[in-house]
Amino acid sequence: MTSHALTSTAMARGTAFLGSQTAILCGAMSWVSERNLVSAISNAGGFGVIACGAMTPALLDTEIAATKALATRPFGVNLITMHPQLMELIAVCVAHQVSHIVLAGGLPPKGSIEAIKTAGAKVICFAPALALAKKFIRSGVDALVIEGMEAGGHIGPVATSVLAQEILPEVAQQVLVFVAGGIGRGSAIAAYLEMGASGVQLGTRFVCAHESIAHPAFKKAFLRGNARDAIASIQVDPRLPVIPVRALKNKGTEEFTAKQREVAALLDAGSINMGEAQLQIEHFWAGALRRAVIDGDIESGSLMAGQSVGMVTQEESVADIIATLMDETEAALVR
Ligand SMILES: Cc1cc2nc3c(=O)[nH]c(=O)nc-3n(C[C@H](O)[C@H](O)[C@H](O)COP(=O)(O)O)c2cc1C
Repeated sequence: MTSHALTSTAMARGTAFLGSQTAILCGAMSWVSERNLVSAISNAGGFGVIACGAMTPALLDTEIAATKALATRPFGVNLITMHPQLMELIAVCVAHQVSHIVLAGGLPPKGSIEAIKTAGAKVICFAPALALAKKFIRSGVDALVIEGMEAGGHIGPVATSVLAQEILPEVAQQVLVFVAGGIGRGSAIAAYLEMGASGVQLGTRFVCAHESIAHPAFKKAFLRGNARDAIASIQVDPRLPVIPVRALKNKGTEEFTAKQREVAALLDAGSINMGEAQLQIEHFWAGALRRAVIDGDIESGSLMAGQSVGMVTQEESVADIIATLMDETEAALVR
């Protein structure tokens, strides 16, 4: 076992904050980040985060209880800010004394950060730009994730390397920052730690862990995929907004483009109104990630994956993935 003295020192602020052995978070991935993967990550020295996604408060309650039964170390819960029952979901986390809550998917509504902090939990928010990072610091968030467009899932327009250069020097003294998006090896982790990050968040790299319940076909698609296969979804018509999602291209990707054209044509012809058109676009992907991750429908389901997918070359245990990343980080810091 390699000693990780330099890495541990560089990660010290992150590990003290997370209560973990390494400052490597496995970012919440809807359908993938459930009790098995989350507890495995935390038990192996990383920090697992449950993806609440569209779960009801009752489902989240069950998932947290099941994760607690498996985990010997702290883990977090990721909540989507536009969930209609966000405050109830926060209450479920608080009742379970979840130590860290991640608010994802847009500006947290009034009262949500306060509710988490009053309960004594730590709050982590995604900062897609420097101005927002500063705003979150003023709101009292404990840590930030800066995630670039190389990441899998919903993405912003700016690359991780640019966000890191813009945001870390300005705010990393005041607040902990975890860098995410496109990290496949420890050399990248070392670079972001040297730039002032307290730790990192990876998603794609953990999808093919033995402990991940993702369908074998979903994992196979990852093992075959290369960086240039993980493409951002395209918006066809300015009237029909699409939040870009990075995923492996498949038949579903092409069908989504065709669907946007079809809906735009119906709009032009006056057959449907704007509300109906936008609803049709939004509904296209509803359930698509579940179909791919759980049912193994890799043709028309959504294969959300980041550009680091080419560095996922085998199924291995979470412990081995974390050990490799730590060894690589140490080797890079020693150089
Ligand atoms: C299959 C998949 C599903 C994801 N689902 C979510 C989600 O539900 N909520 C969220 O905040 N981020 C989600 N993400 C983003 C991850 O939490 C993480 O930040 C991202 O994967 C990091 O970038 P990387 O993929 O380059 O490692 C997802 C990513 C993937 C690959």
